[in-house]
Amino acid sequence: MTTAQLLALDLAASILAAGSWAGAAVVLSRSATTRSARVALGLMAAAWLGFFAQVALAMTLSGAGWWFVQEKALLAIPLALAGSTIATTVAAAPLVRLARGGSTPPAATVRTAVVAAALCALAGIAARLVVGYPLTVLPGVTLVVLVVVGTWLAHAVFAGQGRRLVTGLAALVGLCLIASVGFAWLSSIATPGALALAHPHGAQGEAPQADTISVADLRTADNGPGTVRHFDLTAAQERVTLASGSVVSAWTFGSLPGPELRVQQGDLVEVTLHNSDIPGGVTIHWHGYDVPNGEDGVAGVTQDAVLPGESFGYRFVADVTGTYWYHTHQNASDGVQRGLYGTLVVEPRSGPAEDVDVVVPVHTIGRTLLLGNSDLPTELDVAAGQSVRLRLINTDQVPQRLRLTGASFHVDAIDGRRIAGATSLDGAALRLPAGGRIDLVFTMPATGSLLTSDASSRVSLLLAPPGADAESLTPDRAAGDFDPLPYGTPTAAELPSGTGLVRATMVLDRLPRFLSGRPIQGYSVDGQVFPHIPSIEVDEGDVLELTIANRGWETHPMHIHGHHVLVLSRNGVASSGAPLWLDTFDVQPGEVWVVALVAGNPGVWMDHCHNLEHAAEGMMMALHYSGVTTPFDQGGDHGNHSE
Ligand code: C2O
Ligand code: CU
Repeated sequence: MTTAQLLALDLAASILAAGSWAGAAVVLSRSATTRSARVALGLMAAAWLGFFAQVALAMTLSGAGWWFVQEKALLAIPLALAGSTIATTVAAAPLVRLARGGSTPPAATVRTAVVAAALCALAGIAARLVVGYPLTVLPGVTLVVLVVVGTWLAHAVFAGQGRRLVTGLAALVGLCLIASVGFAWLSSIATPGALALAHPHGAQGEAPQADTISVADLRTADNGPGTVRHFDLTAAQERVTLASGSVVSAWTFGSLPGPELRVQQGDLVEVTLHNSDIPGGVTIHWHGYDVPNGEDGVAGVTQDAVLPGESFGYRFVADVTGTYWYHTHQNASDGVQRGLYGTLVVEPRSGPAEDVDVVVPVHTIGRTLLLGNSDLPTELDVAAGQSVRLRLINTDQVPQRLRLTGASFHVDAIDGRRIAGATSLDGAALRLPAGGRIDLVFTMPATGSLLTSDASSRVSLLLAPPGADAESLTPDRAAGDFDPLPYGTPTAAELPSGTGLVRATMVLDRLPRFLSGRPIQGYSVDGQVFPHIPSIEVDEGDVLELTIANRGWETHPMHIHGHHVLVLSRNGVASSGAPLWLDTFDVQPGEVWVVALVAGNPGVWMDHCHNLEHAAEGMMMALHYSGVTTPFDQGGDHGNHSE
């Protein structure tokens, strides 16, 4: 059973327990007959069943490395145990008597005890669905106080105690709830965000430290010996006519997708971004390219948004080959979907190693899936025997599953990094995380090959010798997903030893939170949403080992700016193939990834879910090098808004 299934079962078991206790309380409040006593006893048994299931599941989960089930061990289970034991001790005997035909209705204490057990079970569910990981003192204590006061209130009602007491206790419960919600709301607007700590004056207005450097100064200084390649990109609103003839109103960098920037290793890439009429402003982030921090293009962190009529210049040395893409990082969740993206290819110095080299970004605009720039099947003539490199890029918000039919291929690179000892694959589905890239290399068979997406049967790319029979190329939808972890040949340790080791965890979840004062069902990291998720702090030269666990039900394509991470393990199973360096990886429900990076690129780097809607709803934080400050902020006169 997967961890996600265990987590789902655990939730079901706690709902069974809480529901049964609540049901018993309702039954007993209605009537005191033999029948109701029997029903209540049955429900109590079901509640115990739910409780034991929770204990067993928590033990299984923690055995699987899930220390993230903390709130169960520390709060939910002890509370449920206490509540259930007290209720059973108090209520069982009188209820059995009544069930056997007795006629004494259950005393107030019996009904109170059952309500108390229900409250205890509910508090456990609230700990899971509202507090999450980590369980901190204040919300933990608040839940216990609510259970105690709630029980007291129930007793006051059942025992027919004075109106005054009942109203007072009800008010106390209300006050407790209002105070905790109010406190959460206030802290979401009043306390400075975690990024404020990277401001030159610090959060509390302390004196600036002496040896700090601003992200604005972390720009490309040395041009290197390479050729200067200059590009102008103008962001504008555009009505684009797709291949099918349908017209979409898009925001583009000149075309949909934006121009393919193709340079050679060692070139100095110089891009001037102009904003013609994108209302909220625009930036360019070089997704997967580990540029100096000041070139990273994140509005409100590394620069101000470029407003209509303004421009901004980016420069970086293309020192690493591979497949990348670029997109706006101002209101990104909106802008990227509307079309503010393009592709970046860095070829080896000697030019492309293959005869044919094609870039295929996959994007959904409105409801239409585009392969490259087309919403219809396209064809490319490739002579049999020629070598082909297909650079697949997922620029969407959700995973995309692509299939290449007709040719056996190898996965030559992932996220711009070569895979050592890549072996030939046949038909496997390529599941790309949102933002991720995979390079396929193959030799063109006489019968041709067909690239398709599981998301739409309308688009495809046929690469084939002229006259090849495309009809025979039917994707095998049953073929399983390619898994990069065991793929390729392992090599010696890739991480420097003897440097500082920093460990950090990110526990991903979905919890009710306030996002700058606005209540949302937020996407959280360690129980917080942006900008209150504490930054991960490193010194230059450290090795950062990052454990990322997903407690939620949705996939989170985690993306780290400015660095590639080496995958160490997934769900406790070590990566056994070639060293796998990624910049974007899907942490699926219940999964735990351990990755490491070398802190060799000083800055304030965003670290977020690349389902950009999740990022906009909280799942965004920073990797912060000590001594680096930023003069930029969210909001301000440029209306900076990273996501
Ligand atoms: Cu491709 Cu922060 O993003
Ligand atoms: Cu996400």
